[in-house]
Amino acid sequence: MTFTYQKSVPPELINSAVSLYVDALKDKVVPVLGDTTRAISVLTDNLVPGRCLAAICDDKLVGILAIQTAQGGFFSPSMQSIISEYGWVQGLYRYAGLFFLHHETKCDEWYVDGIAVDKDMRGKKVGTALLGRLEIMAKENGIRKISLEVIDTNERARSLYRRLGFVETKQTAIWPFNYLYKFPFKTVITMEKELNDDNKFYQSF
Ligand SMILES: CC(C)(COP(=O)(O)OP(=O)(O)OC[C@H]1O[C@@H](n2cnc3c(N)ncnc32)[C@H](O)[C@@H]1OP(=O)(O)O)[C@@H](O)C(=O)NCCC(=O)NCCS
Repeated sequence: MTFTYQKSVPPELINSAVSLYVDALKDKVVPVLGDTTRAISVLTDNLVPGRCLAAICDDKLVGILAIQTAQGGFFSPSMQSIISEYGWVQGLYRYAGLFFLHHETKCDEWYVDGIAVDKDMRGKKVGTALLGRLEIMAKENGIRKISLEVIDTNERARSLYRRLGFVETKQTAIWPFNYLYKFPFKTVITMEKELNDDNKFYQSF
C-alpha cells in the first residue's frame, strides 16, 4: 500500500475531503452548522484547498490535515456567506459558534484545524506521517510552534499527539457553549509542540 502526500487537495477529491473532515470532526462542526448535509454544503463553499495536507492512496483521499496560519485556515467562511446560507438570526448564531471554535494563530505558529484519516485506514501511520510532514514544512517556513486542540472525549487522538511530542498547555471548559450549541463534550485541551533544530524525529518522512 503506497501513500502519497500533497500540499493541497486536488479538485477531484474536494468532495471526499469535505466528507472525511465533517465525519471525523462532527462533534465540533455539526452542532454549529446544523446537520451533516448542511455542514458539507457550507464547508464545500468556503474551503481553501491549499491550506491542508492530503494523504492519497490509489487515487483515493485517505487523510486530511487542515492547516491554519496567521493568514487564514482551510475552512474560512465570511460572516456574509454564513448569513446568506442561514438568514440573519440563524446566521449570527452559527457564526458566533464558528468564532467560538476559532483559534487565533500567531505569525510564528501553525494550528492544526483538524486531522482526519479514513476509518478503514486508521492505525497505519497516516496520521503520524501527516503530522510529520506538517512539522517539516513548518520548519522550512520559519514556524516555531505547532498547536492544536483536542476534545476531552478523544483519548486516542490525545495519546497520539503526546507520543509525537505535543504537550498539553491549557484545558478550557466550554460551558455555557456546550448547552448553547449542544456540543457533546465539556472541555477542550490545547496541545503545543515547540519546533527547534534539535528535534530530528521526523526526518524520515
Ligand atoms: C486521530 C487520527 C487522525 C489518527 O490517524 P491514524 O492514521 O489512525 O494514526 P496513526 O496510525 O499514525 O497512529 C495511530 C495511533 O493513533 C491512535 N489512534 C487514535 N485514533 C485511532 C483509531 N480510530 N484507530 C486506530 N488508531 C487510533 C492509536 O492509539 C495509535 O497509537 P499507537 O501508534 O501508539 O498504537 C485518526 O484516528 C482519525 O481520523 N480519528 C478520527 C478523527 C479525529 O479524532 N481527529 C482528531 C481530532 S483532534
